[in-house]
Amino acid sequence: PVPIIIDCDPGHDDALAIMLAAGDPAVDLLAITTVAGNQTLDKTTLNARRVCTVAGITDVPVAAGCDRPLVQPLDVAADVHGVSGLDGPMFPAPTVDVVPEHAVDLIHRLLAEHPEPVTLVPTAPLTNIALLLTRYPQDAARIREIVLMGGSTERGNRTPAAEFNVLTDPEAADIVFRSGAPVTMCGLNVTHQALATPEVVARFVALGTPLGQTCADLLTFFGSTYRALWGFPSPPLHDPVAVARVIDPGLVHCVEAHVAVELHGRYTRGATVVDLHRSTGRPVNARVATVLETGPFWDRMIAAVAALGAG
Ligand code: BDR
Ligand code: CA
Repeated sequence: PVPIIIDCDPGHDDALAIMLAAGDPAVDLLAITTVAGNQTLDKTTLNARRVCTVAGITDVPVAAGCDRPLVQPLDVAADVHGVSGLDGPMFPAPTVDVVPEHAVDLIHRLLAEHPEPVTLVPTAPLTNIALLLTRYPQDAARIREIVLMGGSTERGNRTPAAEFNVLTDPEAADIVFRSGAPVTMCGLNVTHQALATPEVVARFVALGTPLGQTCADLLTFFGSTYRALWGFPSPPLHDPVAVARVIDPGLVHCVEAHVAVELHGRYTRGATVVDLHRSTGRPVNARVATVLETGPFWDRMIAAVAALGAG
């Protein structure tokens, strides 16, 4: 299995990304690190512990990281994920705790200790990853790949031009894309292909496990905000797409391109400028996901939740 670390801000779709990573045999989840994003750091960290508790993920360290973006103030997404960051289901008091180590230090240590290079899967603002690469530039050589959810080849969701994870910490995203580490970007253009339709929700319920029902409750709340805010018929499950790309690259097709993060645009700060047609002459610095194999993606997602529920 591919060793991975998920850096997340749960978050409904982050919750399912954690479950996919913990439940699928193709990846070895070494750690879950948290960052401020969808909600404040204390809430995203509590939510990671809640997800681990209900999913029976007890052998993976959870570490809290940065509580604010590198430069600008934090602007959370309570309108999308609720006041808790994970509104919808009822969660029991978490029994999984955090480790007493900063997320960046934990990632640095695991990169050094693991016998093979490790894949980082950020599904949140890139603050922790940018800090890691800035503080420990030599760590880039220990990173097999950074497969992130963020950006878009098309329009944004927080602004017409910018996607939430990149907009929340554009300076961090800029550092990651310019780092020289191999980066794969799973942006809105591909994650909007992962719509959790009523048929998908019914498949989680049909698992007949408490965890399957928790997933259905998460998707039902997430669906209500996506319908109200953007008129989506079903909510897009962004973050698991990045995990799926690591599990089986054939699930998420990519093209190579130069990606720049707009830091100064009056209307476009936080936009990912993707040179799909090679018109700038700038060298390729990323793989950019374009097409999701939707059917196999959902099969894998549901199988992972089934495996955790059985454990
Ligand atoms: C991203 O923003 C967050 O709200 C989601 O968890 C996802 O990571 C989508 O733009
Ligand atoms: Ca997220």
